Formats: sequence, structure tokens, C-alpha cells
Amino acid sequence: MAANSGFKLNHLLIFACLIGIASAQLSTKFYDKTCPKAVKIITKAVDDAVSNETRMGASLLRLHFHDCFVQGCDASVLLDDTENFTGEKNSFPNANSLRGFEVIDNIKSQLEKSCPGVVSCADILAIAASESVGALGGLRWNVALGRRDSITASLSESNSDLPAPFLDLSGLITAFSNKGFTTEEMVTLSGAHTIGQVKCRFFRDRIYNETNIDISYAKAMQAACPFESGDENLSPFDSKTAATFDNAYYQNLVKLKGLVHSDQQLFVNGSGETDSQVSRYSRNMGRFKKDFSDAMLKMSILNPLTGSDGQIRTNCHFINA
Ligand code: HEM
Ligand SMILES: *[C@@H]1O[C@H](CO)[C@@H](O)[C@H](O)[C@H]1NC(C)=O
Ligand SMILES: *[C@@H]1O[C@H](CO)[C@@H](O)[C@H](O)[C@H]1NC(C)=O
Ligand SMILES: *[C@@H]1O[C@H](CO)[C@@H](O)[C@H](O)[C@H]1NC(C)=O
Ligand SMILES: *[C@@H]1O[C@H](CO)[C@@H](O)[C@H](O)[C@H]1NC(C)=O
Repeated sequence: MAANSGFKLNHLLIFACLIGIASAQLSTKFYDKTCPKAVKIITKAVDDAVSNETRMGASLLRLHFHDCFVQGCDASVLLDDTENFTGEKNSFPNANSLRGFEVIDNIKSQLEKSCPGVVSCADILAIAASESVGALGGLRWNVALGRRDSITASLSESNSDLPAPFLDLSGLITAFSNKGFTTEEMVTLSGAHTIGQVKCRFFRDRIYNETNIDISYAKAMQAACPFESGDENLSPFDSKTAATFDNAYYQNLVKLKGLVHSDQQLFVNGSGETDSQVSRYSRNMGRFKKDFSDAMLKMSILNPLTGSDGQIRTNCHFINA
């Protein structure tokens, strides 16, 4: 009798726990008990990687973006292709372009030593993005934790849902509105291009064929991006302060010095739909940094897997066996 009610009580407790876990929301305290050092380990490794190579901050921010826009922030972007599985790494926006994977791997292996099987790859990406922006002079956002990792990826969604650099304003607005973002938030998030680099093949059309570009700027960029070669040559989006998270991106747009077609779409001639917001950010860095951090917080909670959905991958490249 006593044994039987103990058995029932156990079942009740297990049941209650499962419900509790299933309804768990993301929380900044998620790892406080299970892996108290998690956030410190991640931010320290990101700070080290960014001080070794400032561009890594840009690369880690982009990784989180490319994760969240495809199936939500579930680390799907980190899955490798295998003979049984197709990942997102070979999509048009990602192939030969996304970087920073080894920084995530290094963090993951440290975490697996401290608290095996506890911290998700998706949460690593989320903290790394915020810490990268902070390390380069922007505002960190309050990253809530508890995302779990997907057991699937979508090459086709990666191709269709990530915005392409040849999009016009209306295409950019649609791509972001499909993920729940306003036009204003799209303009804000595009300011990420105040850091990092871009390959010649993504801006050649603009510097040779477009007319809404500052002539001396186009000439200077042509020197770095030949008409018929150098597809993979890199140039900073923002030639003056590529390693600082400032508002120079918008100051460049106002001067028609946006490097990629999609960037310059945000500012036409002073009377375009999004021109006034670009002008405002070009004059008010504080406003941009605050809006960016708010919009990233929103991006970071796109469709997370929680509770018992997904898994905590042991190796970010592969689903657990
Ligand atoms: C608005 C639509 C966007 C388009 C069309 C776009 C397109 C691109 C392209 C073509 C590159 C260069 C890739 C290469 O040369 O290999 C790039 C780089 C980058 N993008 Fe975007 N992007 C957009 C929005 C965003 C957003 C919302 C973020 C983050 C919040 C972001 C963050 C970055 C960063 C930081 C880099 C530089 C990465 C590095 O240096 O490794 N982009 N983007
Ligand atoms: C530092 O950055 C360089 C590229 O600038 C890279 O080759 C190297 O692996 C990095 N070292 C560490 C320890 O991250
Ligand atoms: C692919 O699936 C087969 C059959 O289930 C399995 O034996 C093999 O190890 C898998 N390969 C990889 C790389 O996971
Ligand atoms: C520029 O436009 C011309 C005419 O449309 C086209 O033939 C050429 O390939 C374009 N050049 C570049 C670099 O995009
Ligand atoms: C500015 O560009 C917009 C959109 O392309 C156009 O409708 C408008 O006529 C232009 N205004 C001026 C003053 O050039």
C-alpha cells in the first residue's frame, strides 16, 4: 500500500515536471543552477576571438541572424551535410560565406567539459551575437536562454527566406515582414552592416552599373573589385570603421556610399520611404544602438524550441546519435 502510493506520487511528480519543462519559457537565469559558468565561458571565448580578429564579431552576429531566419533560433545553421542529411551550409547566402564555426565549436567543447549535455548550440549563438556587438561598441541585449537544438535543417528555407543583396526595398520589406519585423526594424537591423566584410561578387553590379552611388567611392571600390575577376575579394561594408559598431553605415548611405545594392535601397534621395529613418540614425548614434539591441532581442526569440522539443546537441555539427 505504502509502496503503491509512493509509486503514484513519483509518477505524479514526474508528470508535473514534464509539464513544467514543456511550458518553460526562455529565461536569463536558465543555466544558473545547471551550468552557472555557461554565460561566462561563452562571453570570455567571444571576447578572446574578437580581440584576436575583430571581424569575428561580425561573423558571429551574422551566424545568429542566419540561424534565426531559418526555422527559428534552433542552431539549424550549424548542422553539417552528411550522407543522410542536408544542412543549410551550402545555401546561396551561406556557402563560402558564413564563418565563425570554429569559435562556436571551441565554446561547445568547453561547455561539454563543464556541464555535459546542458547548454544548447542555439543559446551559444544567441549569447555570442550579443557579446560580439557589445565587444565592438554596440549595446548588448538581455539574452533569455533555454533554446534547444533542432534535429532538422532546411536548405530550401535558407535559400528562400534569407534576404539577397540584389533585393529592392519592397523585397527587403517582405523578407523581414515574413519573420514578423516592421519596415522600421528592417532598416534598424540592416545597420549590422556597420561591421564586417563583403565579397566583390555581391557588390560588383552596384559599383560598375548603378548611378545612385558616389563616384569617387565607386572608383575606389572598383580598385578592390575588378570587373572580370576577384569574385572573392573582401571589402569592408564601412571602409572607415569596419570594426566599430557605430552609425557610420547610415552616414555612408546618406552620402550614397552604401556598398551593396540592398543597403543603398534604404536611402534613395531624401524622400524615399525609409530615407528619414536613415537620416535620423546618421545623426543619432545612441538611438540606433538602442533600437538595434531591441530588434536583436526580438530576433533572438524567433520560434525557439523549448521544453522537450529538439535536443541539446553534444556536437553542434551533428544531431545526437
Ligand atoms: C537586409 C538584408 C540583408 C542582406 C541582403 C544581407 C546580405 C549580406 C551579404 C551579401 C553579406 C556578405 C557576405 C559575403 O560576402 O560573404 C553580408 C554580410 C554580413 N551581414 Fe548581412 N544582409 C542583410 C541583413 C543583415 C542582418 C539583419 C544582419 C544582422 C543582424 C546582418 C549581418 C551581417 C554581417 C555582420 C555581415 C559581415 C559578416 C562577416 O564579415 O563575416 N546582415 N550580408
Ligand atoms: C586569430 O585570427 C587569425 C586570423 O586573423 C586566425 O587565423 C587564427 O586562427 C586566430 N587565432 C585564434 C586563437 O583564434
Ligand atoms: C547514415 O545512415 C546509415 C544508416 O542508418 C548509418 O549507418 C550511417 O552511419 C549514417 N551516416 C552518418 C554520417 O550519419
Ligand atoms: C552591367 O550592365 C550591363 C548591361 O546590362 C551588363 O551586360 C553587365 O554584365 C553588367 N556588369 C556588371 C559588372 O554587372
Ligand atoms: C526620389 O525618389 C523617389 C523614389 O525613387 C521618387 O519617387 C521621387 O520622385 C524622387 N524625388 C526627388 C526629389 O528626386
